[in-house]
Amino acid sequence: MGSLHYSFLVLLAILVSSANAQNGLYLPVRKDPKTLQHYTTFQMGSNRTNINTVIDLGAEFLWFGCDNYTSNSYSPIPCDSSKCELAKGQGCIVECHRSDPRPGCTNNTCGSTNFNPFEEFLSGEGYYEDTLYAKENVQVPQFIFSCSSNDYLQGLASGTTGMLGLARTQISLHKQVTGKLNLPDKFSLCLPSSGLGKLSIGDVSSSSKPDISPLLKSTPLIINPKSTSPVHAVGDAAVEYFIGVKSIRVNGETLSVKDSYFTFDKDGNGGTKISTIQNYTSLHTSIYKPLTRAFVKAASDMKIKSVAAVAPFRACFSSSSISKTAAGPAVPQIDLVLPGIDVYWRINGANSIVEIDRRTSCLGFVEAAPRPKPATAWPTTSIVIGTHQLEENLLVFDLVSSQLQFSSSLLAHGKSCSRV
Ligand SMILES: *[C@@H]1O[C@H](CO)[C@@H](O)[C@H](O)[C@H]1NC(C)=O
Ligand SMILES: *[C@@H]1O[C@H](CO)[C@@H](O)[C@H](O)[C@H]1NC(C)=O
Ligand SMILES: *[C@@H]1O[C@H](CO)[C@@H](O)[C@H](O)[C@H]1NC(C)=O
Ligand SMILES: *[C@@H]1O[C@H](CO)[C@@H](O)[C@H](O)[C@H]1NC(C)=O
Repeated sequence: MGSLHYSFLVLLAILVSSANAQNGLYLPVRKDPKTLQHYTTFQMGSNRTNINTVIDLGAEFLWFGCDNYTSNSYSPIPCDSSKCELAKGQGCIVECHRSDPRPGCTNNTCGSTNFNPFEEFLSGEGYYEDTLYAKENVQVPQFIFSCSSNDYLQGLASGTTGMLGLARTQISLHKQVTGKLNLPDKFSLCLPSSGLGKLSIGDVSSSSKPDISPLLKSTPLIINPKSTSPVHAVGDAAVEYFIGVKSIRVNGETLSVKDSYFTFDKDGNGGTKISTIQNYTSLHTSIYKPLTRAFVKAASDMKIKSVAAVAPFRACFSSSSISKTAAGPAVPQIDLVLPGIDVYWRINGANSIVEIDRRTSCLGFVEAAPRPKPATAWPTTSIVIGTHQLEENLLVFDLVSSQLQFSSSLLAHGKSCSRV
């Protein structure tokens, strides 16, 4: 009788654990049509409050406005604790003066410095932990995040209240989720141009349909030894994602650009990174000029008519002179050439062209604004790949093998982010 009871319990335990066995955490990705920002939604705390946050590949952690956040499962990260060290806490909030302690106002709380990239605004706040909930009942207990005052949300898409950090840190979303759920540190991101995209953490292969794997090419993720973050310690390496673009081709012709723009100098200037904050890829002047020149020339060879430019773009065309393909307007192809044999990231019309209106289409790259001298605190990257160039491309960040897998436009293969 006793042993029967025991085996029943064991069976129950097995059933419960397999029901809870997680192979990943999947979040929806949407695009705000007004700001062009991409954001995701999950739930936090005992009240499972819906939180919408803008996805930021370059940000170090999750923060959101806590003014109206209620939960009875949160706790502050104490100053001088190991979790505070993990979070690289900055300072200590010794005392917060309010009669009712709430997230964002507690004594002895590990300090954070939150960055709003749209306003380039920094605010000193505190770190907390609470349970994060996602679809299919996935729960991530003691998830570390920072609370912000709701005064610092300017520039964020309407309905969003914070930033979701996916950088290479100990407390980024993927690092905490894969650590807690015992999964390899990998995530995939598919930004939609409209409709629903997907952010998958952990087992990214089961999230993408098998017919997409053959489309994926791979390139090493490289580390810029100099931090590109607004707040960092001397000697810190960058936590953003860089790839080793070594040249650029337009319809097969390599642009004449000095190699030094593609690599890092001693101060960490140069190189190529991926950003979910910029709308359009920005290029150093010495890359932007030859690219637009070559693109306009190749377009003219394809009988595409140039028209007056519409800022911030410098090369625009008459839409009626461009034919259409599955992967957008039929324009010269831009390839970002990567190390290895025949490895390149192809940018088709869907990702290179911005349709201003029915008559005008522009090359959707911008010239990087020159940095004021003396050089500011963080280095300047030559190529910052922005969201218009990332939409409807599947990106897999494999931090176990330090590789980026990329699909180029899924549209060229009759697929899209809503179907990965
Ligand atoms: C992106 O484009 C939108 C719409 O034109 C604009 O409001 C926003 O300021 C741009 N964002 C950035 C970061 O440049
Ligand atoms: C927070 O709650 C207050 C009062 O309940 C309300 O006036 C305010 O709009 C809310 N703020 C946000 C950002 O939801
Ligand atoms: C949860 O939400 C309800 C309704 O909004 C509220 O009355 C309650 O105080 C909240 N619980 C906590 C723990 O804040
Ligand atoms: C915070 O510290 C102040 C001063 O020591 C104290 O009066 C207050 O009760 C503390 N608050 C909490 C929630 O412990």
